[in-house]
Amino acid sequence: MRPLEAKTMGADAFRLPPDIHYLNCAYMSPTPRVVEEAGMQAIIASRNPTQLDGRDFFAPADRIRALFAALVGSDRPGQVSLAAAASYAIATAARNIPVGRGDRMVVLDEQFPSNMYTWRRLAADSGAELAVVRRGGTGGAGAGGTGGAGAGGSAAGGNAPASWTAAVIDAMTPETRLVSVPHVHWTDGSLLDLIAIGQRARDCGAWFVVDATQSLGALPFDVRTAQPDMVVAAGYKWLLGPYSTALAWWSERMLGGVPLEENWINRRGSENFAALVDYEEAYADGAIRYDVGERSNFLLLPMLEAALRLVSDWTPASIQSYCETLVGEPLAHLAEHGFRVDAAAERASHLFGIRLPAGLEPERARQALSDADVYVSVRGTAIRVAPHLYNTPRDLDALVDVLVGLTP
Ligand SMILES: Cc1ncc(COP(=O)(O)O)c(C=O)c1O
Repeated sequence: MRPLEAKTMGADAFRLPPDIHYLNCAYMSPTPRVVEEAGMQAIIASRNPTQLDGRDFFAPADRIRALFAALVGSDRPGQVSLAAAASYAIATAARNIPVGRGDRMVVLDEQFPSNMYTWRRLAADSGAELAVVRRGGTGGAGAGGTGGAGAGGSAAGGNAPASWTAAVIDAMTPETRLVSVPHVHWTDGSLLDLIAIGQRARDCGAWFVVDATQSLGALPFDVRTAQPDMVVAAGYKWLLGPYSTALAWWSERMLGGVPLEENWINRRGSENFAALVDYEEAYADGAIRYDVGERSNFLLLPMLEAALRLVSDWTPASIQSYCETLVGEPLAHLAEHGFRVDAAAERASHLFGIRLPAGLEPERARQALSDADVYVSVRGTAIRVAPHLYNTPRDLDALVDVLVGLTP
């Protein structure tokens, strides 16, 4: 797809100021018009609670389950839960994954904290080992780990494989009971092959958790091929939704677990408001039991639903392909000036890291970009760039001009 065509597809869908170059959807999506409109209508509707029907506690959440299920290639909306953050669903998964001394859990080095602290806690509480996988070039026999009280997990030096996928697969011994990884690394967009990792997880008898917050919505993902036990995405980045929303899909074998909290709506028969104090022992079916309290959020759910419809209409494949076309030439140009970006096959096109020539400090580059109204993030040693359909070649030109201008 040519940039112009995709721009037309997303034309007028966002209200970003025309004079800025916002290349940071990995930080937060600008709110699309239809999502903003849904939010305004929801606030107006909240003027009068008598207009709220008992069904409004259930139907919007169920429509969202269906949209999210379809987005991950599932026809089982009942296997989707609503959370308030990625960390919530990850903590719910950890609560239901039995590990103990002698077991191993595998995560990536510099993985996003919401997908790290929970596993560190589980390692500390259970005595299981947490193996923190490193990629080649940063040292490591692939993984090192610590377990037991106070475990933070640690990575060892050596000759680690060059790709995250190979490093993860190497680290997955027969003792591995859990692997929890993203689809792309949040710092630089490097891709993981979730089909290969999922296969290895099944061979080891390990639970497989995916944090797709930095990819779902802009990069195709399918539970039928990756076969995760849980995949979660926060709503406010590539799903184009509001903050404080997240959605998770759960495998069948995870559906009988215990939620993080005991709330009224997750119990069987909660539709019958008059009988709520006839306390019910059974949880609602499927993944609904894992929903966060007050999941019916009357302001945020209409926004999330509108956002999911938009992403589903545009399709993650088209968004990825648009970004690929958009960034191809500018990145080749930057490479001629000593900037380094992973090969296209090893990284995403909606999120990638630009490593700077020797002597150019990331903070100096970020400041110069910000002075020119080019918005990106610095993550570690890379400038992280994250375009979407609202970006045009003009935005990438502005980025390249500033960066090249900083080189001798
Ligand atoms: C990979 C990844 N996961 C999750 C999150 C958000 O986590 P939470 O929803 O727990 O705040 C982010 C935010 O930047 C992220 O980059």
